[in-house]
Amino acid sequence: CGIMGYIGFREAQPILINGLRKLEYRGYDSAGIAICDGSSIAISKAKGRIDVLENQTNESRLHGSIGIGHTRWATHGRPSDENSHPHFDQTGKFSIVHNGIIENYLELKEELIERGVVFTSETDTEVIAHLLSENYDGDLVTTVQKVATKIRGAFALGVMSEHEPDKLIAVRVASPLIIGVGAGENFIGSDIPAVLEHTRDVYVLEDYDLAVLTKDSVSVMSLQTNEPIERDLMRIEWDKEQAEKDGYAHYMLKEIHEQPRALRNTMTGRIDEAQKKVIFPTLQLTPESVQKLEKIYIVACGTAYHAGVIGKQVIERLAHIPVEVDVASEFRYRQPLFQKNTLTIVVSQSGETADTLAALREAKRNGSAVLAITNVVGSSIAREADDVITTNAGPEIAVASTKAYTSQLIGFYLLGLYLAQGKETVDQQARAEVLSALQELPDQVEAILAHADGIRQYAESIKEENQLFFLGRGLDYAVSMEGSLKLKEISYIHSEAYAAGELKHGTLALIEEGTRVIALSTQADLYEKMVSNITEVKARGAVVLGIALANNMELHRSVDEVCLIPVTNELLTPVLSVIPLQLIAYYTSVALGHDVDRPRNLAKSVTVE
Ligand code: G6P
Repeated sequence: CGIMGYIGFREAQPILINGLRKLEYRGYDSAGIAICDGSSIAISKAKGRIDVLENQTNESRLHGSIGIGHTRWATHGRPSDENSHPHFDQTGKFSIVHNGIIENYLELKEELIERGVVFTSETDTEVIAHLLSENYDGDLVTTVQKVATKIRGAFALGVMSEHEPDKLIAVRVASPLIIGVGAGENFIGSDIPAVLEHTRDVYVLEDYDLAVLTKDSVSVMSLQTNEPIERDLMRIEWDKEQAEKDGYAHYMLKEIHEQPRALRNTMTGRIDEAQKKVIFPTLQLTPESVQKLEKIYIVACGTAYHAGVIGKQVIERLAHIPVEVDVASEFRYRQPLFQKNTLTIVVSQSGETADTLAALREAKRNGSAVLAITNVVGSSIAREADDVITTNAGPEIAVASTKAYTSQLIGFYLLGLYLAQGKETVDQQARAEVLSALQELPDQVEAILAHADGIRQYAESIKEENQLFFLGRGLDYAVSMEGSLKLKEISYIHSEAYAAGELKHGTLALIEEGTRVIALSTQADLYEKMVSNITEVKARGAVVLGIALANNMELHRSVDEVCLIPVTNELLTPVLSVIPLQLIAYYTSVALGHDVDRPRNLAKSVTVE
């Protein structure tokens, strides 16, 4: 979910609605705003996208210069007008927006009902509004603090009351929240893009922070002890265009095209040209401690997990350290074994994914050092990890991740090279070759993007299919997993990624006349094996698109169509071979008329378990 708040001198309605638009990637089942005109609060909320809310509020405007807004991704209670935020108490004097989950809400709800409270929604959030009303002691701050002791779980809150119409209260417990600081006006946001239009000065709240906003001041204190807290005011340097669409039809297409820059930015400052070495000046993980590492876990969700699957192979091959890769929601409950010199790497674009954050905490509890690869400086994961490698991809808005994924891959290559430096068992010449090939990748991605049109035609040809298969071996298999996920996420066509050698053990039964197959074949040592697997599916009638390096003169004989990518070091091919797969997913979704940037049922940042 996304939270937006405003207190200042301007009309709050358009500011809240525009802010919510920037947060729509966090959820868009329903949206709402509550505005106080200095004496009373009016609420407008609606099921559906922000447009529905905007139309509704254009017809009957809410006036006032203080307000809170919310865009929802349903957890407790289906998407509906009633379940939309803001929620309010029975007197209508308290209004709140909430992101997270109140774990003990059923218990609290029963108690409130016994005391005669009537609920208007099915949400967990509504209990907070009633508790505020019931516990109000003439001071909103202490009331919020008191209520916070009664609720358990994750909550970022924006609170407003008619009793004290000169302030907004923001609380953060295990759900992200930032405060934007303006002149004569201040803002609350779930994320920085929500406020960027108005200010570049931001406080990132930490867990158990409570902030009181008036139009002229922001004060942060401890939710539990009331003690004042000094948070650093961060200056956000993103240019406005970075957070907008840049003239592309969709954020996803813009972000696909931003990859050359994102990759360059992720490498910047991390390569010592003279010494042909990777440098991470701020890492605690020193060359000495690297030598002692016996085991690495990589843990992440979704696309970040797919980057981890590649990361495993990269680190094992470059640095000769055994790596296990896990989906975060599994890792945290499977009681993984931590040896003495274990490093846990968590990967997360947003830095806020609840399962990944929980896995990070589990690793720390077990004494493992934690390194985060994340795109969001100041995110929960970045702050809690011992070490951080930022992917400097800039904000990613489309739900389907593209530039964050390829930047995460760069993060893994840099890390793998860093871990390999000076290791006796490693061929240092080969390491230096990978490093120089790495620096060619941004230009090579650009070259692929320049020929995106051919891929658009291919997408047209598959849009009526019910299913597709992606095949590959080794790194190609790992890329296939990401290609298949991209297609599923935004085109809603079912597809499966299969380790090509495993196909004959079951899935081959699904191949019939006309079945579309995308076969990745970029690895020389696996090439002949791949051709055998392609022959197996062709013999059953499959129509195959092969993806190979430009120096491959043979593959076209075994497949129906080929897509060639620039020649690079074999370890680096994923950064290039994934680009056509991203474009296939994108153009197929466009051809089918789907909402590319906001696919059904999915959210950009999942801060619930
Ligand atoms: C959500 C998004 C995915 C993303 C995953 C992990 O499910 O829809 O695109 O890969 O979360 O997100 P993270 O921010 O941790 O990389």
